[in-house]
Amino acid sequence: MNGFVQCVELEKTNLNLLIDMMSRMIKPGIYSVGAIDWDRRLFDELIPLPDGTTYNSYLIQGSDKTALIDTVDPTKLEELVGNLQELDVSIDYIISQHAEQDHSGSIPMIMDIYPDAKVLTNPKCKELLKDLLLIPEEKFITVEDGETLSLGDKTLKFIYTPWVHWPDTMVTFLEEDNVLFTCDFFGSHLAESDLFVTDECLTYRAAKRYYAEIMMPFRLLIQKNMEKIRDLQIEIVAPSHGPVYKKPELIFEAYKDWISDETKNEVVIPYVSMHGSTKEIVYRMVDILAKNGITVKPFNLTASDIGELATALVDASTVVIATPTVLTGPHPSAVYATYLVNVLRPKLKFVSIVGSYGWGGRTVELLKGVLTNVRAEIIDPVIVKGFPKEDDFKKIDALAEEIIGKHKENGLL
Ligand code: FEO
Repeated sequence: MNGFVQCVELEKTNLNLLIDMMSRMIKPGIYSVGAIDWDRRLFDELIPLPDGTTYNSYLIQGSDKTALIDTVDPTKLEELVGNLQELDVSIDYIISQHAEQDHSGSIPMIMDIYPDAKVLTNPKCKELLKDLLLIPEEKFITVEDGETLSLGDKTLKFIYTPWVHWPDTMVTFLEEDNVLFTCDFFGSHLAESDLFVTDECLTYRAAKRYYAEIMMPFRLLIQKNMEKIRDLQIEIVAPSHGPVYKKPELIFEAYKDWISDETKNEVVIPYVSMHGSTKEIVYRMVDILAKNGITVKPFNLTASDIGELATALVDASTVVIATPTVLTGPHPSAVYATYLVNVLRPKLKFVSIVGSYGWGGRTVELLKGVLTNVRAEIIDPVIVKGFPKEDDFKKIDALAEEIIGKHKENGLL
């Protein structure tokens, strides 16, 4: 945890607040009209959501025109419509910052309710919306990077921020009120009754997990996107998942840390063990590394939340994958974890593999073949025949010592 985050233990959310979200004002003329999904536990049929999520949608009421920024997942359409009806407004523009359906999926239904509304977006997002939602060409207005739209006394500026996390993503800056609407960028999967961040520690953890799962593969592109918004006078950051930031520096400082090239003195060990041999190797390594001042994070893959594993990869310098041999190769759980490491592209410096076998196999060769995106130095693996014996422990100890030495050479320890 970084020093800039003040962890404050707050009272748990009152269960009596498990009510439908109502429209809520962020500033005069700016309303949050989205939905809280308290019960969703899986996103994209892949990502665990231990804390649910929100689909934030924002209504901007100018003196001449009204715009809706993003919609909600179609499962929550009723709540969005109820919130809009409560405000009793017409909608001139539906601004789509990103075509993924948790934000765009309700656009066709909103267009049916507000038939005069135009969908305003960038050309890439328009192409995706036409493909995914079959929205007809004549309904679109497209904007260039940096273009503005006047709603009368409120002006929206659209800034392309590609690959946070699809190629179509953009953010919207409300110039008179200094509010930046960011869709997935700076978001968190966190269902809370509070509109604004109240528990900074909780939000920080959820945002880091979200970054790890969604944004980390695009770390270098995020560096460029952060540069694009650097000179804006931002008072409020309003993402389309999770709480709204009244103190933008909380999430900006966190992102600067996560996207930097710096790693921490941490070793992550995703492991699986069928009969105890691989676990013995892992425990030996954890013991030596920890005694030498390295933070070690082992994840038993039969019981671990992959979101926690992804989060640990944000800061790790080293990953050691630990697996027994099944048939002729690594355990499928280890293959899955290795694949995740590869696609998430963490800023690792070192990787190694440990494990055990009974009569042979191609574990190292197969796992190395999965790690095509990872630019880290591969430290010689240690694969043991059966349960580790004295000579094997010497090799395991030597691997641990080599990792300790690498961390020292790199100023991590
Ligand atoms: Fe929250 Fe990429 O959608």
